[in-house]
Amino acid sequence: MEQNIARDEKLTNVVSPLQDAPAQAATKKVFMKTYGCQMNVYDSQRMTDALASDGYGLTENMEEADLVLLNTCHIREKAAEKVYSELGRIRKLKEEKASVGQELLIGVTGCVAQAEGREILRRAPSVDLVVGPQTYHRLPSVVKRAKSGEKVVETEYAIEDKFEHLPQPAKAIVRNRGVTAFLTVQEGCDKFCTFCVVPYTRGSEVSRPVNQILTEAQRLAESGVREVTLLGQNVNAWHGEGPDGKEWGLGELLFRLAEVPGLSRLRYTTSHPRDMSESLIAAHRDLPQLMPYLHLPVQSGSDRILKTMNRKHTAADYLRLIDRIRGARPDIAMSGDFIVGFPGETDQDFEDTMRIIREVNYAQAFSFKYSPRPGTPGAGMSNHVEEHVKDERLQRLQALLNEQQAAFAQSRAGLEMDVLIEKPGRDAGQIVGRSPWLQPVIMNAELGDIGDIVRVRISKAGSHSLFADSEIPVTA
Ligand code: SAH
Ligand code: SF4
Ligand code: F3S
Repeated sequence: MEQNIARDEKLTNVVSPLQDAPAQAATKKVFMKTYGCQMNVYDSQRMTDALASDGYGLTENMEEADLVLLNTCHIREKAAEKVYSELGRIRKLKEEKASVGQELLIGVTGCVAQAEGREILRRAPSVDLVVGPQTYHRLPSVVKRAKSGEKVVETEYAIEDKFEHLPQPAKAIVRNRGVTAFLTVQEGCDKFCTFCVVPYTRGSEVSRPVNQILTEAQRLAESGVREVTLLGQNVNAWHGEGPDGKEWGLGELLFRLAEVPGLSRLRYTTSHPRDMSESLIAAHRDLPQLMPYLHLPVQSGSDRILKTMNRKHTAADYLRLIDRIRGARPDIAMSGDFIVGFPGETDQDFEDTMRIIREVNYAQAFSFKYSPRPGTPGAGMSNHVEEHVKDERLQRLQALLNEQQAAFAQSRAGLEMDVLIEKPGRDAGQIVGRSPWLQPVIMNAELGDIGDIVRVRISKAGSHSLFADSEIPVTA
């Protein structure tokens, strides 16, 4: 998502002059279903915004849609297969609509689109368009072509097109989406972990230029957004030329973003242990806006497995890094991802993973059974682990992680903390906010309005949420 000669022109076009004009009145409806990671959530919003200028309003009800888009994920087999069962259901709807003279276009976007391309049309002939993540700027024209009867597959792109972004939405649209927002700063991956499809579906690592990021961040803040989460498959590999002419990393970018008026909270995800630079750790030490929560996947605690996974660091490197980060920001909560049953994983390797989990003590974690993915080196390795062994290991690992997560939640009870109020609660008189550690905080609606950051005392910690019933007056 980066640009070549036309770079500067494209940058100025990122914020289109039409963005604050009302979108063309919605005459057609698009239904969008999003799978996978936060970047897909961000991309789905950008696609919805682009289609709005073509008269497509968003609907929550697939039956009334003229266009259905599945924004897909290819990370594990289950995620990819879900798309085909969904496509089977949508085909029935398309046939029903056709029988009463109505048209329904079906589109597949995201990482399955990129990985499988034309193969999707073979397996699911009712699909009309397939668009990969690097070609979303062509979506509006693709939809027009599909409407005129063409089956369109757009997955080819030039590297310089990678940050040819869809236009920014009108401020009113951003405001409606709430007080937190995602902002993609980096896309793609050059790390080639041997289990992972992302380098193939999202292409090579590219960083968005600083001025594009600042323009978008300022615009979000002006639209009422208080918390921005910077996104990238390897977000801390972001780098670019700063306005001072120096090479910036994510740390420098965060220091600059902390100066944007109105942005009170910053987060970033997902980071790789190899790209935790000194300046990024300094940002955790010095920036109160940078929330004390870090998702830093390690995948395994066994050096042997880390090596065959091509992670290019050892368990000890990871532990040392966490010590440094905790030294800079003692209240930081760690989050991680784990894979059990990678080819060749022995009982001892698995015990090493259990040990690293005990040493780190995670506040949050995601864990998966290894899923062989077509085209990745892992899939071709010998000594695959039997399914029942993967199941047993996953169960033990998740039991330990659940224990740690519950203990972390309990440790918040009685604490005073700043909570960003995000939305009304399920019950009348309730409001839901977010703790610095990403936990929902349920509290009395009288404590503040949406967008406020209020200081409260946590009265009780449940397994999924915290509860607060008092406001602590903030003393200067
Ligand atoms: N860029 C991120 C990860 C993106 S994928 C990083 O490097 O950490 C999100 C998570 O999915 C990974 O961290 C990994 O734990 C899991 N994952 C990726 N490929 C997988 C596979 N083939 N089988 C099982 N889990 C996988
Ligand atoms: Fe996948 Fe590894 Fe890249 Fe993360 S760093 S996206 S796990 S290849
Ligand atoms: Fe899935 Fe693609 Fe994200 S494979 S996890 S949607 S980058």
